[in-house]
Amino acid sequence: MHGRCGSFIRSSARGFCSQVPGVPGLGHTPKTRKGALDLYGRWAASYDDTVRCWDYRSPARVASLLKSFQSVGAARPLPVLDAGCGTGLSGEALAAAGFSSLVGVDVSKEMLRICEGKRLYSSVACWDLEGSQGPLPFPDKCFSAVVCVGVLSYIQCFDVVYREWCRVVAPGGHVIFTHRDTLWDADVHSCRSSARAFESPGLGLAGWRRIYCSEAEAYMPDTPEDRENVKMVRYLVFQAA
Ligand SMILES: C[S@@+](CC[C@H](N)C(=O)[O-])C[C@H]1O[C@@H](n2cnc3c(N)ncnc32)[C@H](O)[C@@H]1O
Repeated sequence: MHGRCGSFIRSSARGFCSQVPGVPGLGHTPKTRKGALDLYGRWAASYDDTVRCWDYRSPARVASLLKSFQSVGAARPLPVLDAGCGTGLSGEALAAAGFSSLVGVDVSKEMLRICEGKRLYSSVACWDLEGSQGPLPFPDKCFSAVVCVGVLSYIQCFDVVYREWCRVVAPGGHVIFTHRDTLWDADVHSCRSSARAFESPGLGLAGWRRIYCSEAEAYMPDTPEDRENVKMVRYLVFQAA
């Protein structure tokens, strides 16, 4: 990725984040759904080029993790749900790893418009993972896996998000997500304790168990903003009961 990105794009990316009036830099964006709607609504058209230049590694890492836990090539596999699919970079990585049956959801219609243009997903839905529009628009146990890449720092209602993931993933399926190491480790908004609670959820829900937690890894190390390029993420894998 480094080779394709000249200094022009790097400086354009920096300019976008810090100089365009009304567009908050990544580090200053409110970490809420409203903040995400604002940021990604304005950023959608240049998002792919920008984060590629920032050496955004998480889509490929998550796809590779999923491949290590699930075999590809089943005759009629259940699809993978890409939760917070954005423009579809995560879908591109999943498709390259052999997961070609994809469904996406994201709250930003601008990001989804770019995503739909790539024709990678069989369907996408403009939907809030935190449940403001109700449960996810999918039946129970209909996905082989759920992946969520680069999204959870905008989430506050983890119990709602996890409950829905547990509901829609098939028994034995996997849920793989990234989260900032500092937020996960400090259990901000109960992100970690809530995940733990779904290991014995009751109320008719089968729940999941955690089977993998990575070390903290670089997120976008080439981001020109100093507060961003030091950020690290963990990769978490849960398996549905
Ligand atoms: C950094 S982008 C990641 C997109 C894609 N997964 C990727 O790896 O390129 C974060 C995405 O999360 C979405 N998002 C944030 N909060 C959300 C919510 N509550 N429900 C659904 N999507 C949300 C944003 O709209 C944005 O597209």
